[in-house]
Amino acid sequence: MADRLVAGGFEDVDRTGSAEAFAAYLERIGTDERVRKLNRTRAETAGIGAGHRVLDVGCGVGFDASILAELVAPGGHVVGVDQSAGMVERAAARLVASGLPVEFRTGDAHALPFGDGTFDAAWTERVLVHVADPALVVREMIRVVRPGGTVVIAEADYHAYVVDSLDPTVATQVMARHARGLRHPDIGRRVRRLCLDAGAAEVRMRPEVRLVYELEFADKVLLLRDYLAAAVAAGEVDAERAAAWWAGLEDLQRRGRFLAALEFFIAFARVAG
Ligand SMILES: C[S@@+](CC[C@H](N)C(=O)[O-])C[C@H]1O[C@@H](n2cnc3c(N)ncnc32)[C@H](O)[C@@H]1O
Repeated sequence: MADRLVAGGFEDVDRTGSAEAFAAYLERIGTDERVRKLNRTRAETAGIGAGHRVLDVGCGVGFDASILAELVAPGGHVVGVDQSAGMVERAAARLVASGLPVEFRTGDAHALPFGDGTFDAAWTERVLVHVADPALVVREMIRVVRPGGTVVIAEADYHAYVVDSLDPTVATQVMARHARGLRHPDIGRRVRRLCLDAGAAEVRMRPEVRLVYELEFADKVLLLRDYLAAAVAAGEVDAERAAAWWAGLEDLQRRGRFLAALEFFIAFARVAG
């Protein structure tokens, strides 16, 4: 399972045959209260509220979509789109009994199955990093939002990802391996430019630095051990040094000194008109 996650399987979840593993991975993040609070605050900052029609692009199993749906009720509606049928099925099953105003459908973010100006807002989080053509996806998001509406994009920059450790060289090698496994590891820094190039009238940016103080959580969401193993298998890190690096992290954790950080770039783009 971890091998497929490490290989950037979010590019095409259904092809991996492991939708369950990807859903479990998203659940680890989507159920974290700190992450939920960040996402809710971001949606509120974007002005998403009661009565709005909102599109969630690359909705996964619907964690962000459920937050958005809580905000647009009553009177609003959220549509979650994902290219993976496995994700969409699980999202629908998870939320069918919730009573929230949300529906899910399969679709490719490069050719959104909606007319121009259908939504008040379009939202995406941790998706552009995986798609073939981020510029096209941003153009599509802007196209389906009405003039004056908002496109909200949240993407991490995997070169702005650090782990404090007793052997910084190994840390750099592990982070580099993680970045190389992704289609667009530098997508975070590019989101402002992508929105402006796609014709947004105005783009407000906000940083969100995700600080992680628990080694266990960092390992679960940043797959630290999997990327360490991948770096060893690729001959980039010596096995003994890798083991010492991990033991050092465990020691930092025991002494309450562990810290990892990943920077997200948030864009709030106003659609022209
Ligand atoms: C990291 S997840 C997004 C998590 C989601 N924001 C949440 O609330 O948990 C990335 C998602 O993007 C989807 N995806 C990747 N490429 C896509 C594309 N071209 N069109 C639509 N969805 C895509 C994947 O199937 C996956 O569900």
